Amino acid sequence: MNFRILASDFAIDLGTSNILVYKKGDGIIAKEPSFLLLDENNTKVLAIGDSAKQMLGKTHDKIHLVKPIENGVITDFNLTEALLNYFFKKVNSGFSFLQPRVVICVPSGITDIQARAVEDAALHAGSRDVILVDESLAAAYGMDLGPDEPKGSLIVNLGGGVSEASVISLNGVITNKSINKGGDYIDSLIGDYFRDQLSLEIGENTAENVKNSVLSLRVKDKKLSIEVDGRDLETAMPKTVSITSESLLSCIMPFANTVVDMIYEVLEKTPPEISSDIKKNGIYLTGGLTKLRGLSEYISERMGLSVSVSEDPISDAIKGAGIILDNPDRFVKYRK
Ligand SMILES: Nc1ncnc2c1ncn2[C@@H]1O[C@H](COP(=O)(O)OP(=O)(O)OP(=O)(O)O)[C@@H](O)[C@H]1O
Ligand SMILES: [Mg+2]
Repeated sequence: MNFRILASDFAIDLGTSNILVYKKGDGIIAKEPSFLLLDENNTKVLAIGDSAKQMLGKTHDKIHLVKPIENGVITDFNLTEALLNYFFKKVNSGFSFLQPRVVICVPSGITDIQARAVEDAALHAGSRDVILVDESLAAAYGMDLGPDEPKGSLIVNLGGGVSEASVISLNGVITNKSINKGGDYIDSLIGDYFRDQLSLEIGENTAENVKNSVLSLRVKDKKLSIEVDGRDLETAMPKTVSITSESLLSCIMPFANTVVDMIYEVLEKTPPEISSDIKKNGIYLTGGLTKLRGLSEYISERMGLSVSVSEDPISDAIKGAGIILDNPDRFVKYRK
């Protein structure tokens, strides 16, 4: 067995859809879907991440596939601990005398009880010190926006389970608003559309693939189409149908408008000095759902503000959590 004095410190973005891990000195070492495959008693973890997600919709009653994080918060303390344990071992194989410090990204809208549950799960899994960071603040570090400066930035994080708008300055969240809906919700609307309008039952992975490959708010994409496999609800036989982006607009338009309303609400509560920073710099979008075709342009048009999206919006928060792990002094400055 491997013995060492100090375990490596690391950061985790515990998302509804993806879990990313940053290891001090090595950078991002894991990017896995937030899925666990369990035995029939829910006691043993059989698979995790990518290999577990591939089994979605294909399991039997002796194995269970679960997502331990729903809408950004822990649904099951023991499962989350198992998940954290898995990543602790991945980062630190062998035995260490001094356990690691861990930075964990959490949604700004999290309650004290939920934050405590995340902290407890990390302590149980073996960390010596846990630093919880607002996901939007971490993303602002990841996007290099200088969130520790006296300058307001509006960050809109559109993830798998949560959508959130936060105004950030001097390492703090000045005002924010979140809704418990994100990419998973759009996937479920796509599933409903196929069932109700086309009598076709489709799996969750298929719905996600439809969202990511054809769903669009751009007029020029309206004829974009995809062949979708599912089960015909009338004949019970496998069936393939072709669908266009245009026919699925009802799955995205109301959500896009809710996001715009959420941003307006946050701007209404923003102090004037910070409003002028936002007018000058525009909105920063992060989170995987930001990649949905035409969504950033739609938000920019409706808000009358410029919008910037990073190249890899799924990784902004973990990059920022890594910066905080490497420079804790920069992060604690101005914090209580
Ligand atoms: N090209 C794409 N188009 C549309 N959506 C996409 C695309 N790529 C990924 N997504 C969606 O982004 C979402 C995942 O984003 P992200 O990893 O930021 O979420 P998360 O951090 O795990 O969740 P949360 O922060 O809400 O807890 C999923 O719904 C996924 O389907
Ligand atoms: Mg996230």
